[in-house]
Amino acid sequence: MSDWTSGYVTDIGYTYGYYTELNPLVSRMAFLNAGLVFPDGGNACELAFGQGISININATAGAPRWKWYGTDFNPLQAGFGRELANVSGAGANLYDHSFAEFCTRDDLPEFDFIGMHGTWSWISDENRSIIVDFLRRKLKVGGVFYVSYNTQPGWAAIIPLRDLFVRHAEVMGSKGQGSVSRVDGALAFAEKLMAANPLYSRFLPQVNERLKKMKDQNRNYLAHEYFNQDWEPMSVDRMADWLTSAKLTYACSAHFPDHVDALNLSSDQQALLQQIPDPVFREMVRDFCVNQQFRRDYWVKGARRLFPLEQAEKLLDQKVVMVKPRPNISLKVNGALGEAEMQQAIYLPVLEALQDYQPKTLGQIQQAVRDKGVQYAQVVQAVMVLIGNGSVLPAQEPAEIKAAKKHTEKINRYLIDKARFTSDINFLASPVTGGAIAVGRFQQLFMLAINNGKKNHEEWAAFAWNILAAQNQRVIKDGKVLEKPDENLEELTEIARIFADRQLPVVKQLIY
Ligand SMILES: C[S@@+](CC[C@H](N)C(=O)[O-])C[C@H]1O[C@@H](n2cnc3c(N)ncnc32)[C@H](O)[C@@H]1O
Repeated sequence: MSDWTSGYVTDIGYTYGYYTELNPLVSRMAFLNAGLVFPDGGNACELAFGQGISININATAGAPRWKWYGTDFNPLQAGFGRELANVSGAGANLYDHSFAEFCTRDDLPEFDFIGMHGTWSWISDENRSIIVDFLRRKLKVGGVFYVSYNTQPGWAAIIPLRDLFVRHAEVMGSKGQGSVSRVDGALAFAEKLMAANPLYSRFLPQVNERLKKMKDQNRNYLAHEYFNQDWEPMSVDRMADWLTSAKLTYACSAHFPDHVDALNLSSDQQALLQQIPDPVFREMVRDFCVNQQFRRDYWVKGARRLFPLEQAEKLLDQKVVMVKPRPNISLKVNGALGEAEMQQAIYLPVLEALQDYQPKTLGQIQQAVRDKGVQYAQVVQAVMVLIGNGSVLPAQEPAEIKAAKKHTEKINRYLIDKARFTSDINFLASPVTGGAIAVGRFQQLFMLAINNGKKNHEEWAAFAWNILAAQNQRVIKDGKVLEKPDENLEELTEIARIFADRQLPVVKQLIY
């Protein structure tokens, strides 16, 4: 019997995440900020789409500008991904092929955008070669490749621990136990080892912290992160070595907080980096400064620069929209240097300009804040920071919103109905952002209640409680399970009241 898994964990599915970096509208904004040309639209591809949340939501909300293709060799996941594609009717072409099968298909178009999130570090060199060959043949000139991957130096201290996990699972566990129990067994053993106070953790105390954090993490995530046969944190210069043969060069970070040096680098570090002309070497040195652990990069086949005026014009025309309830947005922001306070004189007027949850161009925001003394460059930086902390996203044009809506309505109806059974999927498709916005299970249940004609937050809470109670599920408050029905109903009523006040105005503008 041939093994199709190549040593990859396949007995349990991956988590149901959505990654904004894979939304081309968001990528375009990163390119604009970096002064680079981005493709207008066309064919997009996601390699290893996992449960298919990102690819389906992007295909649905970004249609018809982007037509998506993708593969994930785990049929458990590809099956769910296809179900979503059928529901939305947005025409995403999803396969359960391995990279080797998919990348050599002769019926695929050339692509303007190819993305691969959280996978590159966990596959073999043979598979990496297949992907680079695919990029060489199938990524159009000017096309963009998004890839995220574990990197050093952030992972350096943990590499021996991960080797210990895998070896423990091999030697002390058996395949028949399943991944979850092998993860639990390896974690318990590592704890025993740390209790023996080895010199390793005395030299590297962060190892104990990491282990503590892992105990609370989702087992599906841990199995995929730590227990695959292949696992290699790779430096950005080695990544560049891989991608050079596909004629790709580094474009910019896909992680928006990286675009603001003041959040991440001391003035000495900024001065040091400014002396380095080579972009990849600069990134490598920067990774030391911030002890980088996970990189999210855009690479491009031909990095064409925009002229300064062209860049300014395009940025002024770029629409953005607030995607979080205004009262939930704090003026704190995190970077490698820790938590920083946003400057109120800049951020309060920018947030005020966006707080009706209507898309605005940066030009319109600039007009709105001009009399408060906020400069254009400060508006651009504020928008980048607010995208980085998940408060704001780029927005589509009205005609695109209208076109996407007929598909997003279908996928959202399906996802909201799924919330009756599971809290796994905390996203809905937004025709406005061309991607997803975060909406939790209870909030989705309240939306289902609204669809069922329930009128006010008390009725929504009662509707949600009926669904939970029928499955013997309970609400958790401050880490404690609420056992009594009236406590559950009371808590849900409060959550529904906050939903009505805060989230519903956002949802009305971005989803309905
Ligand atoms: C860590 S998961 C990430 C999934 C998804 N990109 C996400 O972030 O939610 C890695 C994915 O790669 C897929 N995969 C691993 N090796 C593969 C191969 N040779 N061909 C196709 N898919 C593969 C796995 O099935 C898994 O879904």
